[in-house]
Amino acid sequence: MSNILVAYFSASGTTEKVAQKLASQIHADLFKIQPKQVYTRADLNWNDSHSRSTLEMKDPNSRPEILNKVEKMEQYNTVFVGFPIWWYREPSIIDTFIESYDLVNKTIIPFATSGGSGMGKSSTYIQKLAPKSKVTQGKRLSFSITDEELNTWACSMIK
Ligand SMILES: Cc1cc2nc3c(=O)[nH]c(=O)nc-3n(C[C@H](O)[C@H](O)[C@H](O)COP(=O)(O)O)c2cc1C
Repeated sequence: MSNILVAYFSASGTTEKVAQKLASQIHADLFKIQPKQVYTRADLNWNDSHSRSTLEMKDPNSRPEILNKVEKMEQYNTVFVGFPIWWYREPSIIDTFIESYDLVNKTIIPFATSGGSGMGKSSTYIQKLAPKSKVTQGKRLSFSITDEELNTWACSMIK
């Protein structure tokens, strides 16, 4: 049992690998945010203006449902939240996740993988949804980040 949680959403497995490595490096608990309705390849097609992801990301009030729930969120004081960058920010399901818990006084540390974009305004948006938490700037992490780099970054965040 740790007081640090690594929670992540990953549609195609990249963020998942980084999240697993992160949790193992810092001995944190790991939680996979599972959508109630799994994203299909067609859902993820950003070239289709009518695909599910496009429609969700166009609507700031979109809150895709989550299947599972963190047990005992109260035991954690630091929550790393990982996701793929979608349209230069956090996917709407991350907004659902943030709004699903009482995160008062917790430190939230966003991290992401992407095709190249940085975090954009993800941290600002997350802070708005969790006004009583401390949301850090967060970091876009390379898929090929080494254990040592990951450890150095994570430790600098939780010190
Ligand atoms: C709907 C959608 C939108 C995306 N938008 C961006 C973007 O704005 N910038 C970027 O660099 N990559 C973008 N990507 C690429 C993903 O961020 C990248 O492939 C990520 O590593 C996927 O993580 P995952 O395998 O954990 O889902 C997008 C991918 C999808 C499916």
